[in-house]
Amino acid sequence: MAPSSTAPGVPGLRTFSFSPAGVPCRVVVGPGALARLAPALPGIAPGRWFVVSSSPVLSAQGEALGAALRGAPGVDPDPLLVPDAEAGKSWASLGRLLDGLTRRGLRRDGGVVAFGGGSVGDVAGLAAALALRGVPVVQLPTTLLAASDSALGGKTAVNLPAGKNLAGVVHQPRLVLADTRLLDSLPERAYRSGLAEVVKCSILDGAFDRRFGALAGRLEAREPEAVAEAVTRSLRVKAAAVKADPFETLGRRALLNLGHTVGHALETASRHRLAHGEAVAWGLLAILRVSVAASGLSEALAGRLAERVRGLVRPPALGRPVLAGWPALLGSDKKGDRLGLRAVLVRRPGEAHVARVAADLLVRGLREAGAYNPAS
Ligand SMILES: NC(=O)c1ccc[n+]([C@@H]2O[C@H](COP(=O)([O-])OP(=O)(O)OC[C@H]3O[C@@H](n4cnc5c(N)ncnc54)[C@H](O)[C@@H]3O)[C@@H](O)[C@H]2O)c1
Repeated sequence: MAPSSTAPGVPGLRTFSFSPAGVPCRVVVGPGALARLAPALPGIAPGRWFVVSSSPVLSAQGEALGAALRGAPGVDPDPLLVPDAEAGKSWASLGRLLDGLTRRGLRRDGGVVAFGGGSVGDVAGLAAALALRGVPVVQLPTTLLAASDSALGGKTAVNLPAGKNLAGVVHQPRLVLADTRLLDSLPERAYRSGLAEVVKCSILDGAFDRRFGALAGRLEAREPEAVAEAVTRSLRVKAAAVKADPFETLGRRALLNLGHTVGHALETASRHRLAHGEAVAWGLLAILRVSVAASGLSEALAGRLAERVRGLVRPPALGRPVLAGWPALLGSDKKGDRLGLRAVLVRRPGEAHVARVAADLLVRGLREAGAYNPAS
């Protein structure tokens, strides 16, 4: 992976490049990163580009998008809209989007710009992969989860009645511009929920873990420089895993699922009332306990990491229906196979591995994490 450097022209931007499965991807993070859009697009595809977004995202951050597009004559100024959040990740919405793109004149020398959170990114990425058998996609994430995680890696998806993200392809973005100013309008809960993936990456990376003490308080205060550093470090952790295993077939990318085996089951059991990051936070807390029991993680480290999760994400107490329902949903999210459940365990920060685990052990982990205490 090319080393981080400061982007020319805009002070305070962090940038790196990598090429998963041979597809070059440039990543720029920091306040004002959107200014890099106009100069970069013609080098990726010379034709017409189309922005995909949702109305609430445009209400919150349309002005910033407009300013970036003023310098980008190759981009159609009128974004195509998908329904907000999960409602946008349906076959119907994907079909309308593909119709819209082709009706508006998308050609093979053009591309798609996704402007929104992970849901817009997922459906716009899939539309880009399918339209005309594939055009380039550029990701402009507007939530912390998307900026630190989903915008990079190329996973695209829509939901099926049988479950979330069950139909999709891997289509690597050519450019990810994580403009951290866009995160200013995020509600507190969405920001904290997004921190779950950041904390996850800090557990997966020894250097990030050692740095975290200096960042935690500043992330709590949403200090721009700390947010930009944490997003960059998280994206680099993800980029390393994606580069090693672009199609998630070799087990290397699976480490990014830390906290997600339990997290996805909780999220589904809550009927998505629990935000993704809140569910992942409980998943991390459970896995830290399982790792003490089964992977040699010390009590002291587990305590320190659990404090990080609780302090920054502040996952809400789990209601009785969620606690009753989640074990039956384990493994229904593509993380299981015919041999049983797998989960990512931690020996120490920077040392994680995939292991087969019994559902009972995961239930015990969540219990030990305090989820079943009325006061938790
Ligand atoms: N492709 C991947 O690798 C990957 C990884 C993790 C999650 N995901 C997917 O990401 C989705 C969740 O993404 P998300 O958490 O970003 O949520 P989201 O995209 O559903 O957005 C959540 C809400 O935030 C609003 N919003 C977005 N940006 C805003 C801003 N700057 N200011 C104010 N409000 C804003 C949106 O309008 C929406 O109502 C899920 O569908 C999940 O499956 C994908």
